[in-house]
Order: sequence, then structure tokens, then C-alpha cells
Amino acid sequence: MTVGSGSEPATGRGPTSGTGARIHVVRFAPAKLNLTLAVVGRREDGYHALHSIMVPLSLGDALTVSAAPSGATRDSLRVTGLPLAPALDNLVLRSIIAARAAVATTWAGAPAFPPPLAARLVKRIPVAAGLGGGSSDAAAAIHAALAAWAATLGPAETAALAASMGSDVPFFLGGGSAVITGRGESVEPLPDIQGEPPAVLLVTPRLPLATAAVFKVYEGGAREPDAGRARDISERLARRMSAGVSAAALLALTPEMAAANDLRSAAASIIPGLHSFVDALEKLVQRPVCQSGSGPTMWTLYSSLAEARKAARFVRLAAVNGTLPLVGAGEPFVAATTIAGRPTPPSAQPGDRTAGATRPRSVHNWRDVDEHGSDEPAEEPVESKGDDPR
Ligand code: C5P
Repeated sequence: MTVGSGSEPATGRGPTSGTGARIHVVRFAPAKLNLTLAVVGRREDGYHALHSIMVPLSLGDALTVSAAPSGATRDSLRVTGLPLAPALDNLVLRSIIAARAAVATTWAGAPAFPPPLAARLVKRIPVAAGLGGGSSDAAAAIHAALAAWAATLGPAETAALAASMGSDVPFFLGGGSAVITGRGESVEPLPDIQGEPPAVLLVTPRLPLATAAVFKVYEGGAREPDAGRARDISERLARRMSAGVSAAALLALTPEMAAANDLRSAAASIIPGLHSFVDALEKLVQRPVCQSGSGPTMWTLYSSLAEARKAARFVRLAAVNGTLPLVGAGEPFVAATTIAGRPTPPSAQPGDRTAGATRPRSVHNWRDVDEHGSDEPAEEPVESKGDDPR
């Protein structure tokens, strides 16, 4: 599958006369990893104030947005790849609908509403896993819809639109590593990690975890023993990364990052067996294991993708032979990938569909349409309903 990421359509033919929508926009929607996640307070709006370092990964979903077939009155979404929770389907559709409302009066075709779109999502990021997949899809949907309609929105309005779709969505607008503060809406870009990108082993127990539930038990007292430690580490790492950090230096900081997530105890208090799972995983990979976001994804770093792939094979084998206890509905999702750099601006070369893309360089063990060559939808198409402003 061809994956592109610029704000321009990958195969733009300009607005069509019939629908006003360009033909095909393809966006890569990367997963994210929280290198650190400190909860630094409770806000008046009920959300938690955070200090977190987030990095994009080469593992990601691919979102294609096209003009809806003539006669269609609603946006639609077709999903292939990994299974998707229904609420997350709607984040793509809700983002398209919210983008339509945001540009309704300013786009070239006003007073008509921007036309319906047909979206296709190839899902490779496990859902409700602490990897930001739904949020990344939402950011990709906003960009893709605007490009399809040839509509523009100022940076502040785009950021507000993204924040209204979820706390992690603003991070994905920027495309690179960043320090996240506030509820997630404040995104301060960090330079790329120097040299060869660090490789990442991801291990996600097969038990989706809702962020709201994790924060709830955190509020109920499921806290880390050393209050303030995650924040100290997060702030120190942010200063180091601002000055420029090498992959080797980041790798050496894994033990600190493993102690820099304030939601670890909260996630473990919801998922029975998560503690023993992590203990066994640490023994297997012989290095500290960190949690991404509200979990349950666990990760650790390697200096090369080849090493991470080797570790992934080892972990899969351990899950099959019982050395790694299973949590949830079966074998975990195991992937070897890399921390991605900031995407380069689209190339001047016409027809280069991957120009500006964060090229996917990852392998994982769950069924994927690309690996098996099948393009059959895993889900029935979902149609937007109710809240469409048209
Ligand atoms: O913003 P989002 O919908 O992703 O957040 C999901 C839930 O996680 C919120 O309803 C809230 O309970 C919790 N949350 C929080 N503080 C944040 C982000 C999320 O309490 N900064």
C-alpha cells in the first residue's frame, strides 16, 4: 500500500466539478510512545495536568479519504487490519464532521457544505493500548478532509479542533517528538534523536484499557510509591532532548524512563496479572520495560531494528510456550519498530506518493492486510449519523 503524509493530496486532481472533493488523499497516522508520563496536578475542568515526552513511531495506520460515490449523502468509513472498537471508528468520522463544520462558511464552495467523504482505514496500531492510534487517526482525518476539500484552517483553529477530538490529538498535528503539557494541548517540539533512530520492542497485552478508567483508579489512590519522581525524570529528559540526544544516550536512560510513568500502578490495578507479565517480560528481554501512556503497551529500546526483531521473535515464542504468562484474550501484540523523525516537507518530485512520509519500518505478529495480501474489510462500513451539520 502506498502511504503519503504531506498536507497535499497524494494524488490530487483538484476539486471535481460534481462533488467539490479531490479524489484521493492518503495519510500515514503514526503510533506514539510516551517516553515519560508525569501527572502533575488536577485541572478545574476535571482533566489531569501532564508533563510527558511523546515520540512518533514508524508503526502506524494508513488513512485514505476519497470523494464519496455520487448520490451518497453521508461520510463513510471502511476498516481493514486489526479489530477496531466501535467508539474509535467514530473518531475518524467525528473528525471529518467537525472539520466540515469548522470550514463550512470559509471554504470555496460555501454556502454549500463540503461534500461527503469515503474514508478507508488500514489499522495496524492496537486500539486502547496507550499508543494513541485513535488520536492519530483523528489528526490524520482532519488533515485529509481539509486537503480533500481544498479547504484551509489557521493553525490555532486546527489546534482547537484537534484538542476537541481528544487530549492526545494535538501531538499528532506536529509530526515529531514533543514535550506535552496541560491536558495535552500544549505541544513543544523537540529535535529528532541524533543518528540512527532507536529501535523499539512493543508488547501489548490483549486487553484494551480505557484511559478514563485508568485516571479514575489513579484518583482512587493507585499511585506510584515515589511521588514526584516521574516529573523530575520527565523534566530532566526534556532538557536533555532539547539540547539534542543520541540514540545510545536514550538507550542508557531506559531504567529512568521505566520509573517515569505515573499511571503504571493504576493500569496494573485494573489488569490482573499485569505485574507478573511485566516481571516475566523483563527477565526475558533482560532490560527494564516501560509503559506507554495509560497502558497496557509495554516497551523497551534496542540500538538496531534487527535486535528489536530478534527480541520480538523471542517474546512471541515465550508467549506461545508459556514462559510469558498471557494477560487478557490470548497472545500479546508484539512489534519491532523505530522511533520516527519529524517528516520532511513534501518533495518537489511530482508523483512521489511517499514524499514527506514517515516511512513505515516495522513488523508485528497480528494479522495485517498487507502481510496476507487480502483486502477484504474486517468490519462493515460505518456511516456517520445524527451529528452531521448538513
Ligand atoms: O481527552 P480524551 O478523550 O482522550 O481523554 C479520555 C479520558 O482520560 C478523559 O475523559 C479523562 O477522564 C482522562 N484524561 C485526564 N487527563 C488528561 C487526559 C485524559 O484525566 N490529561
